Amino acid sequence: MAHKSQAPGSKTPVQKPEFSVNGLFITFEGTEGSGKSTQIKILAQRLRQAGHEVITLREPGGTPIGEEIRHTLKHSAVNHAMTDVAELLLMNAARAQLVREVIRPALAVGKVVLCDRFYDSTTAYQGYGRQLNLTMVKSVIDVAVEDTRPHLTLLLLVSADVSEERRATRQANLPFIRDRIEEADRPFFDRVANGYRQIAAMEPNRVVELAGSGSTTEVAEAIWEAIRVRLSNAVPGGILNLKAKADHD
Ligand SMILES: Nc1ncnc2c1ncn2[C@@H]1O[C@H](COP(=O)(O)OP(=O)(O)OP(=O)(O)O)[C@@H](O)[C@H]1O
Ligand SMILES: [Mg+2]
Repeated sequence: MAHKSQAPGSKTPVQKPEFSVNGLFITFEGTEGSGKSTQIKILAQRLRQAGHEVITLREPGGTPIGEEIRHTLKHSAVNHAMTDVAELLLMNAARAQLVREVIRPALAVGKVVLCDRFYDSTTAYQGYGRQLNLTMVKSVIDVAVEDTRPHLTLLLLVSADVSEERRATRQANLPFIRDRIEEADRPFFDRVANGYRQIAAMEPNRVVELAGSGSTTEVAEAIWEAIRVRLSNAVPGGILNLKAKADHD
C-alpha cells in the first residue's frame, strides 16, 4: 500500500515510497526475569509450526550496529560514566537502525516480528526509571520509530521478589557478565515497574498485561490465547494482515 499525494503544482498523484505492513509486529516487555526471552522462543516455535515466517529480535541490538551499541550500553568496561541522556540516545540509535534495517523490511513481506523489548522499555527505564522528562523521551522515540509501532505488546508482570529470584537463579547457572543497567538500585526497578503499569493503562488496546508468575507453560498458554484472538482476524492471502489499532484513534 502506498500513500498517494499531490506534488506541489502538479495534478499527477505521486507515489510515496513506503513499506506496506502485512506482517505482524509483537513486542515483549517486562522487568528483568519476567520471562520475555523464554516466552519469545516458545511463541516463535509455535507460530512457525502454524506456518508463519517468524523472526525474533532483541533490543538493544538485533543488527551489527545495534549489537555494538548494546555492548557499550551494558557490558563495556568503560561505560560507568554514561549519562542518562546518552543512554536514552544510544538506545534509540540502536532502535532506529533495527527498525529500518530489519523490522520494516520483514513486515513488508508479511513476516511475524517478535521483539524482546522495544520502545516501552525506553519509556519505562529511561523515562520512569531514570526520571528523564517523559515528553522529551517520547520525542526521541518518535524519531527512532516514526510509524513503526507494535500491533500488540505482551507485558509480563512479576513481582520484584520473583524478578530478583529468577535473576539470581539464572546468574548462578551462567558465567557472570556485568550489565550496567542491572546495577541500578531497587527504587529504580520499582519506578520501572510502575512505569509499565502506566503504559498499559494508557494504551489498553495495544498492551496486554499477563501474569508472568505462573509456570512457563501457563504463561505460554495465556500468550497464545492473546495472539490467537488477533490471528483469527486473518484474511486469505494475507494471514497476518492486521491493521494496527492505535489507542489514540
Ligand atoms: N514462568 C517461569 N517460571 C519459572 N522460571 C521462569 C519462568 N519463565 C522464565 N523463568 C526463568 O527465569 C529466568 C529469567 O527468564 P527470562 O530470561 O526468560 O526473563 P527475561 O524477561 O528475558 O529477563 P531479562 O530482562 O533479564 O532478559 C530464566 O532462568 C528462566 O529460565
Ligand atoms: Mg531476556
